[in-house]
Amino acid sequence: YIQDAAGKNITVQDVDGRLYPSFKPEVIRGVSSLKLRDDDVILCSFPKSGTHWSFEICRLLLNGRLDIDIIPKGYLFADAVPESELNEVNSPRIINTHVRFDRLPSDVKTKKPKIVYIRRNPKDVAVSFYHHTRKMEHYHYDGKFKDYLPLFIGGVAYGSWFDYVLEWETIIANNQELSILELTYEDLKEDPIREIRRVSDFLGVQRNEDFFEGIKDFCNFSTMKGRFKDKMEIKDGHNIFYRKGEVGDWKNWFTVAQNEWFDRIYEKTMTDSKLKFKYTL
Ligand code: A3P
Repeated sequence: YIQDAAGKNITVQDVDGRLYPSFKPEVIRGVSSLKLRDDDVILCSFPKSGTHWSFEICRLLLNGRLDIDIIPKGYLFADAVPESELNEVNSPRIINTHVRFDRLPSDVKTKKPKIVYIRRNPKDVAVSFYHHTRKMEHYHYDGKFKDYLPLFIGGVAYGSWFDYVLEWETIIANNQELSILELTYEDLKEDPIREIRRVSDFLGVQRNEDFFEGIKDFCNFSTMKGRFKDKMEIKDGHNIFYRKGEVGDWKNWFTVAQNEWFDRIYEKTMTDSKLKFKYTL
């Protein structure tokens, strides 16, 4: 485990030099050797960036109908669901993972599947990840936000947000042959129809504007929150994956001083980056 600034433990594990939640190490390692199908879609994100939301949009677009069939194995989360179970799922699969690019299935480089990459502003990710870490039992954590924040900057489970987004920026710039769609949580929130249309074009499915409207409503925060009541995802009556669903909740958690401190770290760490994030809408 690692400790926050007040000495409270968070249970994580080191697998081959990187920090992860305490999923089975062999499953985490297995991600890089997953055998991909030609029509798999790979959904990549740093945790708490809108994975479930973008997964659902992709699923419905591929599906062509607004059904509530929940994929039998949850979110086809490759970091925790073994390959044998992923293989039971019909095509087209959407496989999501938070591992870094170099640990994606090696088939990514040869089969060049469609990759959807979603990112979110780091302040909202920090707040969301803090709550997630407290609610997810496997972290065994009950610390305060002020003590968690410095840890987030250095990296907890899945390492540092900064390393994750900087790496993807380089990968996208240097690998034109890969088929990657970049989404942001904030853009999805700001103009869901525009973004759903982008995903649809990228996935190469022919769907009409009415269907996009349907997806927008079907995937709106409260609708999705009401729909997914998987036992594993509920703690103390709250759904772990559907908390607030807003852009800018960080303002309720960061003090002015923390915000200035965070901005300074951001400036320093992201000097070479062209990425721009929206912190409010
Ligand atoms: P908050 O904790 O800020 O509410 P992930 O799916 O990557 O784990 O991300 C979880 C975050 O996305 C949570 O953020 C969650 O509430 C938010 N979220 C999930 N579904 C959403 C939706 N349909 N619309 C907007 N936000 C959503």
